[in-house]
Amino acid sequence: MSKIIVIGASGQIGSDLTLELRNRFGSDNVLASDIKNATDEVTSGGPFETLDVMDEKKVSDTLNKHNIDTVYLLAAMLSGSAEKNPKKAWDLNMKSLLSLLDMAKDGIIKKLFWPSSIAVFGPTTPKKNTPQLTIMEPSTVYGISKLAGERWCEYYFKKYGVDVRGVRYPGLISYKTEAGGGTTDYAVEIFYEAIRHSRYECFLEENTTLPMMFMPDAINATIDLVEAPAEKVKIRSSYNLSAVSFSPKELAGEIKKHIPEFTISYKPDFRQQIAESWPGSINDDEARKDWGWKYEYDLEKMTDIMLREIKKKLG
Ligand code: SER
Repeated sequence: MSKIIVIGASGQIGSDLTLELRNRFGSDNVLASDIKNATDEVTSGGPFETLDVMDEKKVSDTLNKHNIDTVYLLAAMLSGSAEKNPKKAWDLNMKSLLSLLDMAKDGIIKKLFWPSSIAVFGPTTPKKNTPQLTIMEPSTVYGISKLAGERWCEYYFKKYGVDVRGVRYPGLISYKTEAGGGTTDYAVEIFYEAIRHSRYECFLEENTTLPMMFMPDAINATIDLVEAPAEKVKIRSSYNLSAVSFSPKELAGEIKKHIPEFTISYKPDFRQQIAESWPGSINDDEARKDWGWKYEYDLEKMTDIMLREIKKKLG
């Protein structure tokens, strides 16, 4: 049985991923770690260690101490926050990846999952059904760090045989842990505000269509890719991944079906420009072909579950 660590287990993806990994592989085999406190579900359901991913020595000591062979590296600064703190974002997003790639190269770990993003694309990329291989000129520091990271992953695979795998996540929607600092975060905030106040002021314009995905799909994709036989993983930079695409207006319309009095207004901020630089939909033929990826949740199903679960959570 492999021993797994999730670095960034308190974040939006990490909290859900930790629970599902424990579900599949047993609580004792999945160590959760983060610089911040995690949710009660994460800390009470299995081992947790406070860990700063920038502290290379502590990271390698932790991996050795727990005999870890598989790392899910999710600590990162997202697009909106990164624009406010470019150097810090570059430092965090790059140093953490390079140090884990080196640990894999040195045989301390066997497998590394690292998330890329639709942010690797830029204003010159074809916007619709964006292919795996295309023009990539990201205009955000987050996107630049993700594209550079992808190149490093492929380099370590080709040069040193490091087993590294990744996906380009679209905007992720979930109810366990709120997102923080991203451009697609509106699609999470909107649900909380709809339930709390029946209204939402959106920081993107009404027709800004972006690729999105419900968290259970993202978690399945992640674990399926990491568990796939190595020979099936043909792309070692990062796979395109796609589920649904919608605009704030379309999401608001879907919420209105459940909460008729819900209203939305629009006050675009600096994140509008970021959103406009990203594709509206993604072609994920490669992931489907190579390791059998297929999404399950559409906008309707996702909205229904989000509203139900957040209502429960807010009491
Ligand atoms: N969801 C991320 C963001 O908005 C993109 O990967 O920053």
